[in-house]
Amino acid sequence: MYHALWADWYLPAAMPALERLFFARVPKHARVLDLCCGSGHVTKELVARGYDVTGIDNSAELITIARRELPGIDLRVQDARYLDFNCHFDAVLSTFDSLNHLLSLEDLRLVFNGVRRTLKNDGLFFFDMNLAEAYSADLHQWAVDLSDDNVSMVRGTYYPGSGKARTELIWFVRCGPGNSWQRRQTVVEQQCYSLEQILLTLSESGFRKVETIPAKDAEVTSELGFGRVYFVAQP
Ligand SMILES: C[S@@+](CC[C@H](N)C(=O)[O-])C[C@H]1O[C@@H](n2cnc3c(N)ncnc32)[C@H](O)[C@@H]1O
Repeated sequence: MYHALWADWYLPAAMPALERLFFARVPKHARVLDLCCGSGHVTKELVARGYDVTGIDNSAELITIARRELPGIDLRVQDARYLDFNCHFDAVLSTFDSLNHLLSLEDLRLVFNGVRRTLKNDGLFFFDMNLAEAYSADLHQWAVDLSDDNVSMVRGTYYPGSGKARTELIWFVRCGPGNSWQRRQTVVEQQCYSLEQILLTLSESGFRKVETIPAKDAEVTSELGFGRVYFVAQP
């Protein structure tokens, strides 16, 4: 569902931020880890730009799609909390609020610690996360997208007290003979952290230089920019 409905959405909108904050700063041929790479939509762009890319995601299904799309690229099923590399990367990138999928501050800390361990001392860690504004914009209403062979319904809910966010997805796909439809359904959970929590955790993980750039200042103008912040962190 992610690959069919959302994968193409992020990159075109985020390109101005990526150009300015990542591609302009990380030289071609650099060794880059795409952390939580999903089905490889951004990974493909990194490969096209000439980087030496490794991608990890804990979804075996998405890694299978990514391997199909990017034969020959090192793509692994791995949990971002328990990074297992015996090499050092020039840069680590994590896009499309992937790190909001870490549901506790302790889990986020495990990720930041692991990234620090696998990053060169002069390396760059680039990621984006949604802050409360992004989740508060949620109206608890179903957004429906219709095409001849797909009907998708998406509804977000946010609980400001706990910072928990849920996105419900219902997807009808036309399949098989006789115009029959199949219904699929899932819930994606995210956690909203404050800017202060993220910055403190980065600092405790050994990131001394951190820039925070609100998406709208990085010219991410679509609704995907609302409440999203880009981070560029260095040891
Ligand atoms: C919104 S998608 C973004 C995918 C990709 N970065 C992109 O920009 O298209 C979030 C991804 O994070 C992955 N993810 C969530 N928790 C993870 C974890 N603990 N370890 C590794 N990947 C994780 C999900 O499987 C999903 O592919």
